[in-house]
Amino acid sequence: MNKKIAVIGAGNVGASCALYLAEANFADIVMIDIAEGIPQGKALDLTQAGPVRGYNSRVTGSNDYADIKGADIVVMTAGLARKPGMTREDLLIKNAEIVGMAAENIKKYAPNAFVLVVSNPLDLMTFHMFKVTGFPTHKVFGQAGVLDSIRFRTFIAMELGVAVTDVQAMVLGGHGDTMVPLPRYTTVGGVPIAELIPKERIDAICARTADGGGEIVRLLKTGSAFYAPAAASVDMVKSVFSDEKRVLAASAMLTGQYGIKDIYIGVPVVLGAKGVENILELKLDKNELDALQKSAATYKEHLQVLKY
Ligand code: LAC
Repeated sequence: MNKKIAVIGAGNVGASCALYLAEANFADIVMIDIAEGIPQGKALDLTQAGPVRGYNSRVTGSNDYADIKGADIVVMTAGLARKPGMTREDLLIKNAEIVGMAAENIKKYAPNAFVLVVSNPLDLMTFHMFKVTGFPTHKVFGQAGVLDSIRFRTFIAMELGVAVTDVQAMVLGGHGDTMVPLPRYTTVGGVPIAELIPKERIDAICARTADGGGEIVRLLKTGSAFYAPAAASVDMVKSVFSDEKRVLAASAMLTGQYGIKDIYIGVPVVLGAKGVENILELKLDKNELDALQKSAATYKEHLQVLKY
């Protein structure tokens, strides 16, 4: 039997996820959305692209959560997106309702699924998903570190005029203003960036990365980014399905690593067939560790709004 992926939300992020997943050709995809006709229409459209794009993935759409039954992995994208002037945390209350409802249904219809959370505010919504489903922490994780890292890689490649695929980078912390790019662990073709880019330019690139989503919101005016968030999500799904054991930054539940516990935050993890198989503890210097702990402390405060 084919693997099955449920994508919750058929908006820009959900539909782009479905597109990249269909092209990866490794599973059947069902898109779920409350808007009548939207998931069905987009699914049919994606199916009709298959003959020329060369995929046979079965893509369907539904308004009924019962259709996620048997899903191996659920990608949670539904929720409001930011408008200019908003932080991701401004979405907290409304999106917690949407994520909470999805979580109840995932628990009911796909109790054995992995859950990849993409809805914002990311780290808080991943925590909420974990709490409401009651699934083990290795099966519930959030996408954002991958997105923030690919943005960082892109800006470095643009700065140096080199292939983005030769830039390796890791961005930790929460998916928000407190994220922690790690220039010390960033290399271009194996060469540390400190040897290639002056410090003030590295600082500017880090700042642009932290504002990476905001920059796109300001350009689009009506919503937030979706191609890169979706591509990042599909990379993570693939690592789990193919047991690739990629080392990726993901929002994971910490249990004391980096001196942080009982919170989801972006850290390097090994993603494989068991989900989050390991959390890597990098040797951070004092400033990096302070920044990561400060990021976690900010999210702990926000969690109180959700009464955790
Ligand atoms: C971003 C949003 C989707 O970073 O969180 O683009």
